[in-house]
Amino acid sequence: MSALDFTRTSTTRRIGDDERAQILADPGFGQHYTDFMVHARWTAERGWGDAEVVPFGPLQLSPAAAVLHYGQEIFEGLKAFRHADGSVWTFRPEANAERMQRSARRLALPELPVEDFLASLTAATAADEPWVPEATSEESLYLRPFMFASEEFLGVRASRTVDYYVISSPAGPYFPRGVQPLIVWITDEYARAGAGGTGAAKCGGNYASSLLGKNEAAEQGADEVLFLDSETHTSIDELSGMNVFAITRDGRLLTPALTGSILEGVTRSSILALATDRGLEVIEQRLVMSEVLEQLGSGEITEMFACGTAAVINPIGEFRAKGGSWTVGDGGSGEVTLALRKELTDIQYGRIPDRHGWLTRLV
Ligand code: COI
Repeated sequence: MSALDFTRTSTTRRIGDDERAQILADPGFGQHYTDFMVHARWTAERGWGDAEVVPFGPLQLSPAAAVLHYGQEIFEGLKAFRHADGSVWTFRPEANAERMQRSARRLALPELPVEDFLASLTAATAADEPWVPEATSEESLYLRPFMFASEEFLGVRASRTVDYYVISSPAGPYFPRGVQPLIVWITDEYARAGAGGTGAAKCGGNYASSLLGKNEAAEQGADEVLFLDSETHTSIDELSGMNVFAITRDGRLLTPALTGSILEGVTRSSILALATDRGLEVIEQRLVMSEVLEQLGSGEITEMFACGTAAVINPIGEFRAKGGSWTVGDGGSGEVTLALRKELTDIQYGRIPDRHGWLTRLV
């Protein structure tokens, strides 16, 4: 039972039916926002309270709010999927709730109880139900819970006031080109996270530190940037916002182990389960970049892909680095990659049985 009661303060929609239909016809990713947002506030004196569903709009924040100076912020990403009978579901929300609690601990933010996190998703989706795309599309309503230090204070210590919001955004493919093989730039200049740092937390700072690498990738004509470990610059960490997988000719599925520097992806862990079900040998270990590139050359690695809630599963077609370029397989979308993608999305959209019990009904 949730302790927070997210009461809706208004029923007035800010966007009319026609405009909403136009947006839903081609939402892109992260470009449009719904009518409402969910809010709760934590204070050191009282704990969590002030739960409400309010019209989506600008926040009032002191210019001295701690988050603007010291980056004490975390977030999550989930999707609401419409099923053929009109009902709306989300995928493994407890995993996101628990990860947000781990991120909160790392960033010295208060933990939001799992039940309250789930209640906030239900409240957000119920208020914005018309924004959940039709079951006939591959689109969803992307839910973005986030929490930040809102205390007006410039001393460096954990904030004594914290705000939590859920905003919602109708979403098509994460990459503008759709589900097409990615070109990935391997940066030898920048790292995303270091030992003892915040690499495993879903905090804004990790994404801020990836941006220069992303710019470098764009200059090289690539879609994404791959970060190597910060200490030796030899093993694969992750992309700017996605975990990485490789598939071998002899049926092994390889992905970097969770060593504290990469995100514990919910999609990552779901893929490990689906791949095991398919009889692939799942191996979480240190993946040395030079060995991976060699195995691409020899044909031992046949497919590679990136994954995340927003990106789902996206094939990687080519790597580029200062030393050259390497094609993955024939440069197209791998067969196993696409099969895993189809199975995952079929579960999410309720097209096949949810044998792992991953779905939670929202509306
Ligand atoms: C997600 O996949 O939901 C994320 O939060 C990553 C971000 C790159 C969109």
